Order: sequence, then structure tokens, then C-alpha cells
Amino acid sequence: TQTAPEAQLLTGKKVVVTAGGTIERIDPVRYITNDSSGKMGFAIAGIAQELGAEVTLIMGNTQVSPPANVQVIRVQSADEMYDAVLSQWDEADIVVKAAAVADYRPKEVYKEKMKKTGDTLSLELIKNIDILETLGKQKTHQFLIGFAAETNDIERYAREKLERKNCDLIVANDVTRAGVGFGTDTNAVNIYDREGLVEELQVMAKEDVARQLLSIAAERIAGGN
Ligand code: CTP
Ligand code: CA
Repeated sequence: TQTAPEAQLLTGKKVVVTAGGTIERIDPVRYITNDSSGKMGFAIAGIAQELGAEVTLIMGNTQVSPPANVQVIRVQSADEMYDAVLSQWDEADIVVKAAAVADYRPKEVYKEKMKKTGDTLSLELIKNIDILETLGKQKTHQFLIGFAAETNDIERYAREKLERKNCDLIVANDVTRAGVGFGTDTNAVNIYDREGLVEELQVMAKEDVARQLLSIAAERIAGGN
């Protein structure tokens, strides 16, 4: 006789995670991106899977490989990332926006390689869609988790973003601290909800941050937010 597998914290839940930086094209051989390694989002996707969730990882530009066995959708631009998230949105129980989305993209994308001309060159940039803010406006049952990388006034900026983007939780990191932020295997974050500080996590492996974050989310979903 076989015993049914034991239900885990996120069994039966669908978790969508975005990770990495977006790539905003200038021409066929050039683009704008950022230093996001994707590691924090990858850790969340991997741990969510360990906790029994059905996971979709939407990844932009990174130098790091995503966790094995997680379903991956690869994207480049912020617009593509938004479309990919929307394709998973209706079924999602938890959406985690760990990606470093470019705030601006070149206004014009040149079809052919730009030629070298004058001594200076100006590129006009135009604002990208704010994916998290747009999702926040169309939230129904989804539990929405945002990130905020700040260098100063962490709590004020993070809570302002949480409100503006209608998130359920926001994960704030002080990127000026050692062992925090882009490229590292560790992170130290403060997690806020609408009422204020939920959890203050000292420097630890990104997998451990992911475990703490997902257990708070799971608990709140179970309690009907
Ligand atoms: N975000 C997003 N779409 C954007 C910009 C940001 O979905 N175009 C998301 C990020 O994935 C993150 C959160 O919003 O979860 C906060 O990103 P951040 O860059 O800290 O905030 P911004 O609103 O872009 O403000 P600023 O960069 O001016 O601090
Ligand atoms: Ca930004």
C-alpha cells in the first residue's frame, strides 16, 4: 500500500516569480540592462518548489542558472516580462516581483546597427510600464509581494511603494550594507506590510530569506490574508 505524500506549506498553490534584470534594446547588437544576478528570485522559486508549490519562474537577464526542474519563461524587456506575468496571472496564488525591471527604455529601437557619427550621442529614454503597480490595480485573489532596493530612508520608501503598488508584503533591502543585494549569495531584509514591520532578517543565505518570506505568505493566505 502507498501512503499519500504529506501536504507541504505550499501544496496546491501556484507561485509566479520574476527574477533578473530586463534588457532594453537600443539596436540589434546593443542594449541597456542592470547588475541583477537573479539569485534572490531563483532562491524563492527553488524554495517554493521544495515547499510543494507549482512554480513558474519568469526570468530576464542574469549570469546565473535558474534552479533545476522549475518551469522557466525567458524574457528580455519589461514589456515582455509584463506579458509573461499576465499569462500566469489568473491561476497564480502568490506573485513575487524580485526582478530588477528597467525604469526606462530607449524611445526608439533601431532596426539596423547604429553607425558611429558625431563626438557625442544622446539616447532618449521613455518610461517603462510599472509591472507591479499595474498588477496591484488588477489584483483579485493574488497575494502580491514586491521588492525595494534602497540606499536611504528604507522604511519610508519601501512602505510608500507597498501602498502605491497595492502589495501585500514588500521586501526591503539596504543595498549599502555588506552581504546585501545584487550578486551576493546572502541578503538581509526587512519585510513590511500595510501596518509596518513584519520581520527583520539579519544577513543570511538567500534560500533562508526565501523560506521565511514564503512561510509568512503561506500563513497569511491560509488565514485569508
Ligand atoms: N517594478 C516593476 N516594474 C517597474 C519597476 C519596478 O514591476 N517598471 C517592481 C520591482 O520588481 C520591485 C518593485 O517594483 O518589486 C520596486 O522596484 P524599485 O525599482 O525599487 O521601485 P520603483 O517604483 O522603480 O522606484 P525607484 O526605482 O525610483 O526607487
Ligand atoms: Ca526602479
